[in-house]
Amino acid sequence: MADYVGAVDQGTTSTRFMVFDHGGNEIARHQLEHSQILPQAGWVEHNPTEIWERTRAVIETTMNTARLSSGDLAALGITNQRETAVVWNRRTGRPYHNAIVWQDTRTDRIAAALDKDERGRIIRRKAGLPPATYFSAGKIQWLLENVDGLRAAAESGEAVFGNTDTWLLWNLTGGVDGGVHVTDVTNASRTMLMNLETLDWDEELLSFFGVPRAMLPRIRPSSDPAGYGVTRAQGPLGGEVPLTGALGDQQAATVGQVCFTPGSAKNTYGTGNFLLLNTGTEPVRSNHGLLTTVAYQFGAEKPVYALEGSIAVTGSAVQWLRDQLGIISGAAQSEALARQVEDNGGVYFVPAFSGLFAPYWRSDARGAIVGLSRYNTNAHLARATLESICYQTRDVVEAMEQDSGVRLDVLRVDGGVTANELAMQIQADVLGVPVSKPVVAETTALGAAYAAGLAVGFWKNTDELVSNWNEDRRWTPRWSDEQRAKGYRNWKKAVQRTLDWIE
Ligand code: G3P
Repeated sequence: MADYVGAVDQGTTSTRFMVFDHGGNEIARHQLEHSQILPQAGWVEHNPTEIWERTRAVIETTMNTARLSSGDLAALGITNQRETAVVWNRRTGRPYHNAIVWQDTRTDRIAAALDKDERGRIIRRKAGLPPATYFSAGKIQWLLENVDGLRAAAESGEAVFGNTDTWLLWNLTGGVDGGVHVTDVTNASRTMLMNLETLDWDEELLSFFGVPRAMLPRIRPSSDPAGYGVTRAQGPLGGEVPLTGALGDQQAATVGQVCFTPGSAKNTYGTGNFLLLNTGTEPVRSNHGLLTTVAYQFGAEKPVYALEGSIAVTGSAVQWLRDQLGIISGAAQSEALARQVEDNGGVYFVPAFSGLFAPYWRSDARGAIVGLSRYNTNAHLARATLESICYQTRDVVEAMEQDSGVRLDVLRVDGGVTANELAMQIQADVLGVPVSKPVVAETTALGAAYAAGLAVGFWKNTDELVSNWNEDRRWTPRWSDEQRAKGYRNWKKAVQRTLDWIE
């Protein structure tokens, strides 16, 4: 049998390909960024063709550099930025429009209207999600209403929808030449069109957004022994490899962090932060602004659900310091700059650039920096930015504890910002619980590889995966209870300012 499993991680800012061995160790990787297209305030788009080209390139470079061939891979998994909507023509392979990214707020009127009547309640019950700009359905509706001829093409099944998992699966399995049109339950659970109980597209939800069923992919388990299809020999792997795993990136990280028992949770620090708590085989409804979502479904087993706290802007706030303010030259420098000061100097920064997600769900909130005095410097702002990542996480942890009654005793973390030692120390200080990071920090790609590998018997069961997990680093809280309480009180006041701003 082949020695490795491959995984494509198609994220918000970049696409990477990684190869893992049976111990879950990284063998090779390559990563490329793609353009962030910002046509007007609040709009965020990606070019799907560029994403597919980047995917091809990262796979080819990884395989060539590591001198691997398709025969070395037992299976291939896909994980992806969720909710981002791509609509393309299945005959020509051409997208009708740029992808509308999950952060895009152009559909705020659609979301607000749904929340005003009975439909909001039905959506919450059936999809487990609050009406918000974040999810795919409103983005599809916007495309159907604004792209000439698209509705007719969608009704005839010529125009098809997918998140980026579906787009890549279609291209990898042949594209116009017989590509498969599928998604997995975790991605489908973020469209706002899938019923959480039936795990199928729901006619009533489709009708709220005017989405024709003919344009939607087939929904499959996240780990699928039957396989979604095989890669084409003409494709970037140069041979046929079974595609047997697909999950949204936050669900993949939950699998990569081996959160297989109810009550286990992980927090991923990427462009945004996403904290998922495994709640077992029954969906748990939130009363505190969290999402109910599918965590994973392995083969014919029952699906496992999660409560999720999604935070739109964390790592991207650090990028904003770099790209828009120019006060740092790279993400790593945010730590050095923030370390120049002892504390935030009274400054709190609420980076509500895409409104506020969990637990507030206010698409119309806008960012604020409060508490400024002449004494403050760039360093205080850098420190306040790192603190904002941690305070937003605390907001979500509080909501999770209230919804589930589970008191977190340690927070498992992964993702880019976990390389920032200061941010992780602040996270432990702000939460008052230890923060723990595994040796393999690339848990997202690892989770997709695990799903793919389980389906073909490369890994026999989840116990094997659990034994692959090892702690690399742990941060323990240092702040006094009083300091923690005062900081959080001030943070809540700062959040209130971003809501007061709304007319
Ligand atoms: O829901 C959005 C999420 O899937 C994006 O994750 O890591 O690409 O920012 P990331």
